[in-house]
Amino acid sequence: MTTATRIEPGDGTAAGDHVLRPATAQDLPACAAIWRDALNDYLLRLAQPEIPDDLGPILRLYGHLQSTDPERFVVAERLGSDGARTIDAFISAVARDRLWFLSMLFVLPRAQGRGLGRRLLGAVMPKPDDGTGSRATATDSVQPISNGLYGSLGMVPRVPLLRLVGRVERPDAFAGLPSDIEVSTFDEIGADGDGLGSSALAGELGALDRDGLGFERPADHAFLVAEGRRGFLYHDRSGRTRGYGYTSESGRVGPVVVAEPELLGPVVGHLVTAVEPRGAFGIWVPGSAGEAVVPLLRAGFRIDGFPTLLCWDRPFADYTRALPISPGLL
Ligand SMILES: CC(C)(COP(=O)(O)OP(=O)(O)OC[C@H]1O[C@@H](n2cnc3c(N)ncnc32)[C@H](O)[C@@H]1OP(=O)(O)O)[C@@H](O)C(=O)NCCC(=O)NCCS
Repeated sequence: MTTATRIEPGDGTAAGDHVLRPATAQDLPACAAIWRDALNDYLLRLAQPEIPDDLGPILRLYGHLQSTDPERFVVAERLGSDGARTIDAFISAVARDRLWFLSMLFVLPRAQGRGLGRRLLGAVMPKPDDGTGSRATATDSVQPISNGLYGSLGMVPRVPLLRLVGRVERPDAFAGLPSDIEVSTFDEIGADGDGLGSSALAGELGALDRDGLGFERPADHAFLVAEGRRGFLYHDRSGRTRGYGYTSESGRVGPVVVAEPELLGPVVGHLVTAVEPRGAFGIWVPGSAGEAVVPLLRAGFRIDGFPTLLCWDRPFADYTRALPISPGLL
């Protein structure tokens, strides 16, 4: 990120200009408010439900994104004629091994359609030939501007991401776990460094992530556990790791990675019965992961809202046997 500049009155920055700079922790509430305003601006026009005003969960996600990738969390600040500075837009991306993932890009409605989104992308996005393996993001299917903008840069919508919500009404919709699979649980992951240390668990999660997703993400595992998600590991009797998945009493399920697609339905079935949610479960499932979509629907889950779209330039993950954390963090 080379374009970060501080706005200093008298430094030649004209009123109305946008200056890009890395976000600070103090900027995150303003970014969350832009996220909500920019989404509600078009969701309400489409008669969709409003984004609730509880910004706690999105702020915790922003804190995590900023802690792992501070130079990729950038705000666009405008200098008013009275000298006041206002954040009009922000972008947040993460790098995980050779994957670059655009997590958030939001521009306030009054500043949209004037090149600010493209400029923020230009500041943070790696060039296709700089050694980054894949560049990816998740978009709303009802949002032609973001789909057009990212598609023009190579990140084309490839796979729908369905949000399935509900509780298990018909448990027999899921095939049981194979008889040779043993289940263990984890709710903490080491204590040093990024939270994973050199524990055997970290190695098992990393190997599954490399195999199923094409990248490792130790800091994201530590974040999930800190957020109260409960992890499960699935081994066969010879001790080989066959998969992992997270569930929680708050109802958030995922991510999940398994060694072969046939295990996905049984593992998801285990995750949505292993804990009692306070309300309903919510789970993000790629359309390519039919092994999970079909039993979830048969068990009583419902599709919530319109699909999100997973976009990328080069393929990187096997989404027939992996479920993401959310559209904001794969
Ligand atoms: C999406 C968003 C981040 C884009 O930022 P922006 O500053 O408005 O966008 P820009 O003006 O930089 O660029 C928009 C580009 O999309 C293109 N575009 C717009 N509608 C399009 C369409 N229907 N098909 C193809 N391309 C389209 C524009 O032509 C423009 O490209 P250009 O630079 O070649 O002219 C911003 O509009 C926003 O925050 N929207 C609401 C929230 C949101 O949807 N965020 C993304 C969630 S997935």
